Amino acid sequence: MSEFAVEALNIVRTFKDNEVRALDDVTLHVPAREVFGLLGPNGSGKTTMIRILSTILSPTSGSATVNGFDVVKHPDEVRRSIGLAGQYATVDENLTGFENLRMIGSLNHLEKKFVVNRSRELLEQFGLTDAANRIAKTYSGGMRRRLDLAAALVANPPLLFLDEPTTGLDPQSRQDLWAIIETLVEGGTSVLLTTQYLEEADRLCKQLVVLDHGKIIAEGTSQELKTRLGNTVLSLSFANTADASHGAALLDGISSKPANVDGTVVEFTVERGPSAAADALRRIDAAGITLTGLTLREPSLDDVFLNLTGHKAEDAPSGAIDDAPKSRRARKARS
Ligand SMILES: Nc1ncnc2c1ncn2[C@@H]1O[C@H](COP(=O)(O)OP(=O)(O)O)[C@@H](O)[C@H]1O
Ligand SMILES: [Mg+2]
Repeated sequence: MSEFAVEALNIVRTFKDNEVRALDDVTLHVPAREVFGLLGPNGSGKTTMIRILSTILSPTSGSATVNGFDVVKHPDEVRRSIGLAGQYATVDENLTGFENLRMIGSLNHLEKKFVVNRSRELLEQFGLTDAANRIAKTYSGGMRRRLDLAAALVANPPLLFLDEPTTGLDPQSRQDLWAIIETLVEGGTSVLLTTQYLEEADRLCKQLVVLDHGKIIAEGTSQELKTRLGNTVLSLSFANTADASHGAALLDGISSKPANVDGTVVEFTVERGPSAAADALRRIDAAGITLTGLTLREPSLDDVFLNLTGHKAEDAPSGAIDDAPKSRRARKARS
């Protein structure tokens, strides 16, 4: 049996008689008991991968095991060993929170008493006890997403697939969900999570794979990815240009790269944002200069894509002049 929660080897999935290559030779090794991230913009193939791993869709070629079971040869065993939740909550709007969970329990042929207890426990854990007897139609987006996640957990699966679990949620609901996911993993659950947000991957995932147009374009820890990206931008604003150039001189050596001075704003690319910011503040303060602003900018998914592919995370416009989209179009035309 594989030591990995998920092992996917050279997965290819095409649609429309090969016209669309949703996944193009993707290999994943998802370790047990941690959150593994599949990061990529819309249309990069994330959901297709989740659907293949949850046996909803078969791969065009390649193979995969989930909890040691082959997705093509043993789909029932795979399905029994996973939970699936995501962006498009599958809760029944006309049932209450409690009824939704009970229904999942009976679909899974679980013992009634177990399901009742488990449902109460999950509703409590996800802050839905007060709403347990209200129909889901009255729930907020964040509540629905939490109920959906609870539904995926009724059968207590060792492995969870979360397909963009926080897309479209407000910041507070997103934070709530992150905390829930962290608690689950502390309890021993393995999670494969897809996201469009580097911030989310950074917060939750030990390791990630970055997908673009069905291909892996980068993989590693989020720190490794960021280091490859040229790290964090420390941006300092001064009251006037004289202070700015004085400040830039004072901060010489804070970065291995030269300062970028633009009027009253001085920017540095730094490896450890917070300690560089503290160092900068000390030096500026000691010289008696007043800052009007200081920000640390983490690389965004856009920065990742720009850096790795030379184009933005959104689809390049048809008039784009960089090579990557052109070669893709050419490939599409050929196949
Ligand atoms: N059933 C399908 N038929 C045709 N094309 C599909 C189908 N499912 C997905 N695709 C295409 O495959 C690509 C990847 O889609 P998807 O896996 O949904 O990406 P993501 O989840 O990253 O947004 C997209 O170009 C999408 O249009
Ligand atoms: Mg998707």
